[in-house]
Amino acid sequence: MTEKQPIIEKPPKKLTVYLLGLLNPARIIRAIKFHRKQKKYCKVSHDMELRLYAEMLSNDMLHYGYFEDVDTEPEKLSFNDVENAQIRYAEKLISHMHDKFLPVLDIGCGIGGIANLIHKHGYQVEVLTPNIGQITYVRKNYPDLPSHNLKFEDFRTEKKYGTLLNAESFQYIDMKKAFEKAGEIIAPEGRWIIADYFSIQQFPDKKYQKKFEEFEKMVGEHGWKIIYQEDITFHVLPTLKFANMYVTRIVNPLLLYLEDKLLVKLAWLHHLTREIRDKLSKKLTKEFSKLDTAAFISEKKYMILVLTKQQQT
Ligand SMILES: C[S@@+](CC[C@H](N)C(=O)[O-])C[C@H]1O[C@@H](n2cnc3c(N)ncnc32)[C@H](O)[C@@H]1O
Repeated sequence: MTEKQPIIEKPPKKLTVYLLGLLNPARIIRAIKFHRKQKKYCKVSHDMELRLYAEMLSNDMLHYGYFEDVDTEPEKLSFNDVENAQIRYAEKLISHMHDKFLPVLDIGCGIGGIANLIHKHGYQVEVLTPNIGQITYVRKNYPDLPSHNLKFEDFRTEKKYGTLLNAESFQYIDMKKAFEKAGEIIAPEGRWIIADYFSIQQFPDKKYQKKFEEFEKMVGEHGWKIIYQEDITFHVLPTLKFANMYVTRIVNPLLLYLEDKLLVKLAWLHHLTREIRDKLSKKLTKEFSKLDTAAFISEKKYMILVLTKQQQT
């Protein structure tokens, strides 16, 4: 009589386990629900970009900064230099404020770094942003700053402000509505300080970009006048070059490395995810193209503008 051999069950292969897991109907339904929820949450994609920059820099400012030396080489820059440039930019904007008795409204305040500096200069400052993540952060870290969580276009108040500030936030707001709202809440002799980039050509696919010519036209139409303007395009470029250097020398090589690793370790997953990886790669190429300094100079100019209301006669 031959001895009965015990049946040894072979563990299912990794690939089979993964595929069975992916094809599980309950899991697919959960994934679809999760996708819908996330889509709603992340409806403004630039919020994600801002969060990324906020994680990288530590002074709670989300703008390009201002470099005195326009020839600063990106290789010679540190994160600390970029943060110092951001503080210099904020100080430049604050130097245009003049009335400490009336409140300042920081429109599109990001995560509160500029407003905190304005407060330290002795101004009463309120912050406004439609982004729930940003307002939560500001309320926790700068509890002394009164805050408003909504779009500027939807802001309602009886109060009059001595200064309205748009630091790299004007581009996100409907221009006509911004002029109407600013006109309602500015105090007589009050100043509206706008620092942002404007397009110098029209690009139908870039809806956020405001054309400078149209802006200038609207200034007069809405009863404002520009009392100061400075083109700081070349002074913001070192930050762009710095970010570009990181993408070229670290982010892109790292992505290629991860892709190779996936191919070697899990070739089947590499094969199955080809389409999604191609899509992601196109998206990243588009995002990273925003860091192209030559394109920036040819398409845009970065302006500091100070406006006041024209006196009624
Ligand atoms: C590039 S960040 C600038 C943040 C901040 N001013 C700074 O320089 O650190 C743009 C800001 O504009 C805000 N924003 C976007 N749409 C807005 C709107 N309709 N009204 C007011 N703020 C808006 C964003 O939530 C974000 O806080």
